[in-house]
Amino acid sequence: MSVTVRVPAKVNVQLAVGAARPDGFHDLANVFLAVGLYDEVTATPSPGGLRVTCSGPDADQVPLDRTNLAARAAEALAARYGRTPDVHLHIAKDIPVAGGMAGGSADGAAALLACDALWQTGASRPELLEICAELGSDVPFSMVGGAALGTGRGEMLTELEVGGTFHWVFALADGGLSTPAVFREFDRLTEGTDVSEPVASPELLTALAKGDAHALAATLVNDLQPAALSLRPSLADTLAAGTAAGALAALVSGSGPTTAFLCESAAAAEKVAKTLSASGTCRSVRVTAGPVPGATIV
Ligand code: C5P
Repeated sequence: MSVTVRVPAKVNVQLAVGAARPDGFHDLANVFLAVGLYDEVTATPSPGGLRVTCSGPDADQVPLDRTNLAARAAEALAARYGRTPDVHLHIAKDIPVAGGMAGGSADGAAALLACDALWQTGASRPELLEICAELGSDVPFSMVGGAALGTGRGEMLTELEVGGTFHWVFALADGGLSTPAVFREFDRLTEGTDVSEPVASPELLTALAKGDAHALAATLVNDLQPAALSLRPSLADTLAAGTAAGALAALVSGSGPTTAFLCESAAAAEKVAKTLSASGTCRSVRVTAGPVPGATIV
């Protein structure tokens, strides 16, 4: 017997970052949108103990030890229910690795849901979300999906209404960027300045609620973008190429280095993807849309 969970990637349509807190994290106003790039995590009983395997184009970049959030999710759930995490977790990976699209967090949420179903723990939804928050700031959103405002370090979620489908192109870059390194660069770049309290933009929330791509394009913002560009200056060329190709707006996805391009329609997205792909400024491109549901048993 095994359980498979499908889980989406995310893009941050607003990522407002406050000053570093005493615990090293940053308070955020983080507007997440789940988009249709997916990982699948399959949990199968493993009498030999916890084991993680991974397949997909970038599988060699995924750690298979206890640092993998999927493994940590299984261990956290097992510890809470006084059992051993005797499970084989297989990750079929399609979300870019260390790409700023919450791929690792997605696998954590998916593994948690899969193990919960496999072990029939009877855990409540709030309990599962509490474990997600312990695993990482973006993990609760991977579980919930759709669109949500994350406050605190991003883990305290308010679900948001979305009045339509938004069409996106994502440009994948060579290699990843470390999220802690990008936050450290944010601290360095903002040192000595007054970093304001992060607040969600009312105009952006209205644009989401109306499903208005033009209004959303005018309000997209990522406070980590200067830090990601500072660490990876070539991303500026990718952003410029996508805008020149007709995207309504371009931004770095989360901590990068994936870049995101909001388009007017599915057809416009296909066109932008084609031009971006030929531009030589990225490794590959993906066309997709959101919002989509969070982690789901398939
Ligand atoms: O929560 P998560 O483990 O995903 O965070 C990874 C790293 O990103 C943290 O260790 C921290 O360096 C940085 N981070 C932060 N502020 C947040 C979320 C993450 O500084 N709100």
